[in-house]
Amino acid sequence: MADKPWSGRFSEKTDRAVELFTASIDTDRRLARWDIRGSIAHCRMLARQKVITDQEAAAIIEGMEAIEKDMDAGRFMFSDALEDVHMNIEAALTERIGPVAGKLHTGRSRNDQVAVDVRLWLREETGNMIEGLKALRRKIVAMARDHIDVIMPGYTHLQRAQPVRLAHHLMAYYEMFSRDGQRFRDCLRRINVMPLGSAALAGTTYPLDRVYVASLLGFEGVSANSMDAVSDRDFVIEFLADASICMMHFSRLAEEMILWASSEFRFISFSDAFATGSSIMPQKKNPDIPELIRGKTGRVYGALVALLTTMKSLPLAYNRDMQEDKPPLFDAVDTLAACIDIGARMLDNITINREMMRRAAAAGFLNATDMADYLVGKGLPFREAHALAGKAVAAAIEKGCELQELALDELKRFSEHFDRDVYDVLGLERVTDTRNTYGGTARSGVLDRIAEAEKDLEEE
Ligand code: ARG
Repeated sequence: MADKPWSGRFSEKTDRAVELFTASIDTDRRLARWDIRGSIAHCRMLARQKVITDQEAAAIIEGMEAIEKDMDAGRFMFSDALEDVHMNIEAALTERIGPVAGKLHTGRSRNDQVAVDVRLWLREETGNMIEGLKALRRKIVAMARDHIDVIMPGYTHLQRAQPVRLAHHLMAYYEMFSRDGQRFRDCLRRINVMPLGSAALAGTTYPLDRVYVASLLGFEGVSANSMDAVSDRDFVIEFLADASICMMHFSRLAEEMILWASSEFRFISFSDAFATGSSIMPQKKNPDIPELIRGKTGRVYGALVALLTTMKSLPLAYNRDMQEDKPPLFDAVDTLAACIDIGARMLDNITINREMMRRAAAAGFLNATDMADYLVGKGLPFREAHALAGKAVAAAIEKGCELQELALDELKRFSEHFDRDVYDVLGLERVTDTRNTYGGTARSGVLDRIAEAEKDLEEE
């Protein structure tokens, strides 16, 4: 086993328990490819700046490429005695090309190495989230278009409130997931900053060309403060905050799917391929997929809080505490990616029960606001109209009927202003389609928004 790169000032062998406790290789091996990429860029720059020779650089790069091939072939052996991914790769390089490997670490520290690795990795993952969300948004828009004529109850306090179009309800999630995508895109600007060249914390005496390294690695800019660059994890925290918000949206969608699939609602059903059964109750068909989406939200929130807590009060610059950023980050990324994927598939496995939705929208006086608005149209102040329509609701409850089933002379007892035309305003289509303010549930408005969304998705 190779000596530790830092063994110079040590006279005792590291305690095995310490090796195991400090090792992060089981986690950060995931960054290996990015570590190699960062090293190659750093190496090219060292040669360009004449800090090392072209031959030395060629040997290092060749060695690195061979290591990557070993990884591809599953031949690379990671060792926990070598602590982390950076030291494992450096040791492998030394084994392969000899002492010249030691020149790679000129003007560099693991502190900026880990920062660059995580940034490169997270940049790619964030891009994947944006793409995944885009595919999901496409599905939502298509589903909305397909169901433009389905009317359902809109709820407040989980009480039936006013009829809405299912498409409008679905498009609300389109808006949420679009903002999530925007948040990730915005976060990318802060992820995509190059920290290499900070060395351990203070910068370095070698004439490094940081901008060149940034251009090789596709970074948009270079960090402006070496101490900040090695000790900043707010780009990770920001990502986790964005991921948490996105999971919160998923959990709301999941919750609605669970409710809607219940016998109490019966608004939707899941295909058999997207449900599970009970080991004891033969009749059960359970919505485990949305339940797990809802449940996994906690893991992502947990990751955010874990890292906020880890970073709280850490003195500048790097501290080993920060190694604890990766397990929660990796878990959150995997969880969100899985939810985006399964969430989109879930939508393909739902059948809408339009009859049940319509029936629920038609019962329970969801058109009472329209009755009040009708009286406003006849010149009454809204407050008065509200009270009169409320009286009509009470009468209908008493009779066990709907508002439109009250006879005109009954209505006239509440107000002289009621006339035959009141019945025209109480139908479901009419009730939704007169809500034609921008952003409202009217068929025309929802179709406009769907068209805008389709165009946005096309151009994005
Ligand atoms: N494994 C470390 C991490 O993930 C890399 C940086 C270690 N730096 C150090 N000086 N021990 O944070």
